[in-house]
Amino acid sequence: MSVTLRRMRWWDIAPVMELERALFPEDAWSPELFWSELADPDNHWYVVAEEAGELVGYAGLAVIGDEGHVQTIAVRRDRQGRGVGRTLLSALLDEAARRGCREVLLEVRADNPRAQELYRRFGFTVLGVRPRYYQPAGVDGIVMRLKDVQRRLAAYG
Ligand SMILES: CC(C)(COP(=O)(O)OP(=O)(O)OC[C@H]1O[C@@H](n2cnc3c(N)ncnc32)[C@H](O)[C@@H]1OP(=O)(O)O)[C@@H](O)C(=O)NCCC(=O)NCCS
Repeated sequence: MSVTLRRMRWWDIAPVMELERALFPEDAWSPELFWSELADPDNHWYVVAEEAGELVGYAGLAVIGDEGHVQTIAVRRDRQGRGVGRTLLSALLDEAARRGCREVLLEVRADNPRAQELYRRFGFTVLGVRPRYYQPAGVDGIVMRLKDVQRRLAAYG
């Protein structure tokens, strides 16, 4: 089944929160955090992924100057491993390039090899480690960076 992406709107926050709590049991965002991100579209870009009208994932980008930040990316558990994450990340990076970002940064839990692999495949490399960044578990945060995001625009000619 094909996945379609569209901008996240405020009425998506409730269903997004259901996925958020299921996928990030230890460090789920609050609805207020999503509200504040959506309230600042000049510096944020959030999308939801749908299959047959059902929410199967979401992702968000923040832009600070010429730096992009992957704020979140998540795919419903029963739809993982089928390319939805790749589609979402690709869309975020294209948007980062369109908005003039030179590089994109993100933080990922050290105990999340699957997400790290996804980022690595897109060209992200490890910039550093933030010890015990994720609380309360005390899991390290790995900071990853993708340089030369503008190359994505060049690829479209
Ligand atoms: C991380 C996540 C977003 C990836 O989404 P996904 O739809 O499952 O990923 P995709 O199917 O697009 O796979 C993309 C890449 O992820 C990696 N990947 C996917 N399934 C994997 C698995 N079972 N084991 C290891 N790596 C895997 C591979 O590198 C894959 O690339 P490939 O398809 O070229 O082999 C998803 O697993 C998720 O929502 N996890 C829970 C929330 C989370 O951890 N978010 C990231 C926070 S930093």
